[in-house]
Amino acid sequence: MKKIFAAALIAASGLGFTAAQVVAESHGAMAPTPAEAIAKRMALMGSVGDQTKALAGMMRGAPMDWSIVANAGTNTQTVAETMPALFVEDSFVKPSTASPVIELEIEDFTARFEKLGKDGKALSDAAANESVEEFQAAFGAYISNCKGCHQAYRI
Ligand code: HEC
Repeated sequence: MKKIFAAALIAASGLGFTAAQVVAESHGAMAPTPAEAIAKRMALMGSVGDQTKALAGMMRGAPMDWSIVANAGTNTQTVAETMPALFVEDSFVKPSTASPVIELEIEDFTARFEKLGKDGKALSDAAANESVEEFQAAFGAYISNCKGCHQAYRI
């Protein structure tokens, strides 16, 4: 238990979830070049990866930190809204791990991000209500999106 708590703390201390910053930087800019789109995608997904470590720690018994849950909820919604537009032409090359199948299945792919956004909203609601039960249900739904989409759409 101690170890898990420490891991959650380390993850949490690095939580300046970057989505808002990444989004702000892209405002006013023209459509991203493939290299810019890839860098943004990886940064946004990386922020979701970081927050997920902190949330998973709380699922395993680390003390609840509602501000982290609230931030994660907001960040998830921003990422889910921002990601679909970043899969521009010619951006399915290294260092990206995005599969070119995304271009063929863009509707399914986008629907998965819509679902992720809803699950982010559920995390925000759980934080607003400070409800552990709601948090656990929201996290279960949220985490099921990761694996499903990665299996289908990452190489
Ligand atoms: C709708 C699809 C989709 C969902 C849902 C999704 N991801 Fe991803 N994820 C991707 C794609 C596509 C990439 C590859 C992006 C690239 O390299 O261009 C990726 C990459 C990543 C990466 C690697 C980032 C890097 O630096 O290369 C992490 C970490 C990650 N996702 C975490 C998560 C977590 C955690 C969840 C669930 C809470 C999640 N993702 C949900 C599609 C998704």
